[in-house]
Amino acid sequence: MERLQKLIAQSGVCSRRKAEELILAGKVKVNGKVVSTLGTKADFSDRITVDGKAITRDEKVYYVLNKPKGCVSTVKDDKDRHTVMDYVPLNVRVFPVGRLDYDTSGVLLMTNDGEFANKMLHPRYHLPKTYEVNLQGTLTDEDIRKLRKGFTWKGEKFAPAKVFVKDKDPIRDRTFLNLTIYEGKNHQVKKMMEALGHEVRRLNRLSFGFVTTEGLRPGEVRRLKPYDVRKLIAMAEDGDK
Ligand code: URA
Repeated sequence: MERLQKLIAQSGVCSRRKAEELILAGKVKVNGKVVSTLGTKADFSDRITVDGKAITRDEKVYYVLNKPKGCVSTVKDDKDRHTVMDYVPLNVRVFPVGRLDYDTSGVLLMTNDGEFANKMLHPRYHLPKTYEVNLQGTLTDEDIRKLRKGFTWKGEKFAPAKVFVKDKDPIRDRTFLNLTIYEGKNHQVKKMMEALGHEVRRLNRLSFGFVTTEGLRPGEVRRLKPYDVRKLIAMAEDGDK
């Protein structure tokens, strides 16, 4: 027997934390009865439904998508825009691990493994994510010092980041840099740059942990090897200090 939220996450419907919310919202039934308290145990021989749909144990799959700009990282979009789901094989039900903005491109992990997604996203784990940033504005030494030290802006705390300035274009007032962050707050890179008075013109995620888009054109996906998945989990757990 396992906790209900763990089984739901294992079925690939959503992450464990989202499953807890669904349970508390009364959307989960076990053998026909609503279970709205956390801590209930069950197993896959029970009939478990989420929003009326029965869950089953899924084979776990893991992909990296080179997300093109101009699509949302959700499974559905109420404005009918392109979603990342348009790029994954149709016979597997996966969801994105976290979000990239509509206009951000690059590495996006996709899986049906809620536990894995949870590990990759939980703030306790500190997987490095490197972004290639094309900035309107000139990053000063003081800006770089702030990014490296970490700072608070509008009540939000940003942990120390790695900064590598690749190029500057003083005529057009642009800076090209790689920024590595170890957390995944909403619109984090854009907010960090806004805090310094600069605007992000283009954002591309080069890597998530050690996973890159090498060999993938925008819109292409590659399946991760079991070894890579184990390594990502180990990396996440290693960051739990
Ligand atoms: N930070 C952002 O601001 N946007 C993204 O899409 C990812 C990180």
